[in-house]
Amino acid sequence: MIIILLGPPGAGKGTQAENLQRNHGLVNLSTGDMLRAAVASGSEIGRKAKAVMERGDLVPDEVAVAIVAERLAAGPGTAKGLILDGFPRTVGQAEALDRVLAEKHRKLDAVIEMQVVDEALVARISGRFSCAKCGAAYHDTFNRPKVEGKCDVCGGGEFTRRADDSAETVKARLTVYHRETAPLLPYYRARGLLRTVDGMAEIGQVAKEIDAVLASLGRS
Ligand code: AP5
Ligand code: MG
Ligand code: ZN
Repeated sequence: MIIILLGPPGAGKGTQAENLQRNHGLVNLSTGDMLRAAVASGSEIGRKAKAVMERGDLVPDEVAVAIVAERLAAGPGTAKGLILDGFPRTVGQAEALDRVLAEKHRKLDAVIEMQVVDEALVARISGRFSCAKCGAAYHDTFNRPKVEGKCDVCGGGEFTRRADDSAETVKARLTVYHRETAPLLPYYRARGLLRTVDGMAEIGQVAKEIDAVLASLGRS
């Protein structure tokens, strides 16, 4: 099973991908997380991606496609099921994904659009933080750790905030989303793959809606 989570910055893609990974055993493949790891490691891709990400732009399609294709070829467990979080993000990437999957005789099962209005996104992103050890995502208001200062998932006590979460960069990311990524909605709708969930609902409710989509695909 291969599912794409599609939505603007702050829509909750990472949060729901984490749930799906935990509850359904699907492997979460987030190009944003992989690029942030590349930046942290100081690799060549990371050095090039750093400035692009901090201004809220997209890295070139070839770079994004290469990291996904590599992971699909080598990744342990990807045969069982995959969630793509943050990829594809342009029509060019979607076309490249179609080619990569066709070569591997695999198919896309659904594209889940998480609908959230722009006004809510800035508040979500500016309150976001995550566990430095395992990456679990939290929010100052909407999703605090159950025990203050302690990660629910791994028990870690150190948290980080992203370099591209400033109010200014968030606006740039939103503009890029509407220009480059929103055209994927008609692209996948035309193929009958698009399913839409209300991303404005609270986190548990969104998870239920996504579970219902998976159940309708024959997996719960
Ligand atoms: P990426 O890391 O993918 O960032 P993004 O798409 O901007 O999305 P976010 O991660 O900011 O949001 P999210 O939807 O995951 O929301 P989250 O669950 O964290 O990409 C970063 C950059 O990398 C890009 O700008 C680009 O430069 C580059 N890049 C990545 N992929 C690329 C590609 N394919 N091609 C080219 N460039 C690429 O939730 C946000 C906050 O809200 C959290 O605090 C969470 O706790 C809270 N929250 C979640 N759900 C809810 C809810 N229902 N109600 C209330 N609060 C909620
Ligand atoms: Mg994310
Ligand atoms: Zn953790």
